[in-house]
Amino acid sequence: MKTIDELIGEGLTGKRVFVRADLNVPLDGAVITDDGRIRAVLPTIKRLAEAGAKVIVASHLGRPKGAPDPAFSLAPAADRLGELLGAPVAFATDTVGESARATVAALADGRVAVLENLRFNAGETAKDDAERAAFADELAALADVYVGDGFGAVHRKHASVYDLPARLPHAAGGLIATEVGVLKKLTEDVKRPYVVVLGGAKVSDKLGVIDHLLEKADRILVGGGMAYTFLKAQGHEVGISLLQEDQIPACQEYLARAKERGVEFLLPVDVLVSAEFPDLKTKAPANPSVVATDAIPADQEGLDIGPKTRELYAGRLADAATVFWNGPMGVFEHPTYAEGTKAIAQALTDSPAFTVVGGGDSAAAVRILGFDENAFGHISTGGGASLEYLEGKTLPGLAALED
Ligand code: 3PG
Repeated sequence: MKTIDELIGEGLTGKRVFVRADLNVPLDGAVITDDGRIRAVLPTIKRLAEAGAKVIVASHLGRPKGAPDPAFSLAPAADRLGELLGAPVAFATDTVGESARATVAALADGRVAVLENLRFNAGETAKDDAERAAFADELAALADVYVGDGFGAVHRKHASVYDLPARLPHAAGGLIATEVGVLKKLTEDVKRPYVVVLGGAKVSDKLGVIDHLLEKADRILVGGGMAYTFLKAQGHEVGISLLQEDQIPACQEYLARAKERGVEFLLPVDVLVSAEFPDLKTKAPANPSVVATDAIPADQEGLDIGPKTRELYAGRLADAATVFWNGPMGVFEHPTYAEGTKAIAQALTDSPAFTVVGGGDSAAAVRILGFDENAFGHISTGGGASLEYLEGKTLPGLAALED
């Protein structure tokens, strides 16, 4: 993979450089609630601008349906990028149309523009190769050079991630280089004990990574919504908790395989339960009970790991040498159900281990809950991307940067 140092060494003054970033930040209306992904790509954008390039930043945001939708505009992200750069950032109100062409044509050397959401164009995510290729051709016409730095999207075979680099001289940005370097440390010569903490809502999202980690990790600690399918697989009743009935056989198989391989596979021993899902908008006080996981009432759902589980998991993290954590332990967006996620974040920050927080909700959670980012070894910008990397899959956006 070519680096941006090499690109800069070849001379970028006056060149139009297309940076595929991942500015898919969480929004509350037009307010960005966590700007981590924008800050993460900032050094790449700065370096290219300082090298005299005309920097064209492009990204997706959310999952619009292939047509413009103001709720998914990248305008707030462009504004935030301008604030962080301390320089004006031009904004094109379309991606490959008149506004994009005019914005790029007007861009001075060393200046930055952001294009509107790539997914406002159906060609970006099209399954049909020709449709994606046609959109990639239009994007390629805007630029002279391509820099891939949207780590969070490298697992997507999308036009701007996969097809566009084949059309332009290309290199990997600094963020992708860092992310890949960190994930390599989790797959090659891992320092042990290697402890993995998995949470989040759906067990189906994590099956691939569990399958792979059963061969690599020493301990797997499970929390969040996905834990209930495992608990059910062990024969517990889980009330009205999140449950993926069809995944029970897979969970049973993994539990058996963990035993066979001597991988310690821990499930919550107690949980916070309530008959009502908390109001995440008003954050109105909630009043859950703490119950053992073999005593979840039929009319209640588990919303966070309980105090005994917090203590148990912190203890099993204390002697770790390497930790990978993906997915919150409960509904951390509500203060009553944030303690489990906080306890894991605290155990990681207290630990001398090499700790990696794998993107998405868990990365946002540690920042929203007020933890110091520097207290972790690495906070990834990629949720799905880091999981698929750890699964050993070929990621289209990395493969496209290889040659
Ligand atoms: C993410 O949030 O994980 C990335 O930005 C990818 O988004 P996607 O899952 O909508 O492709």
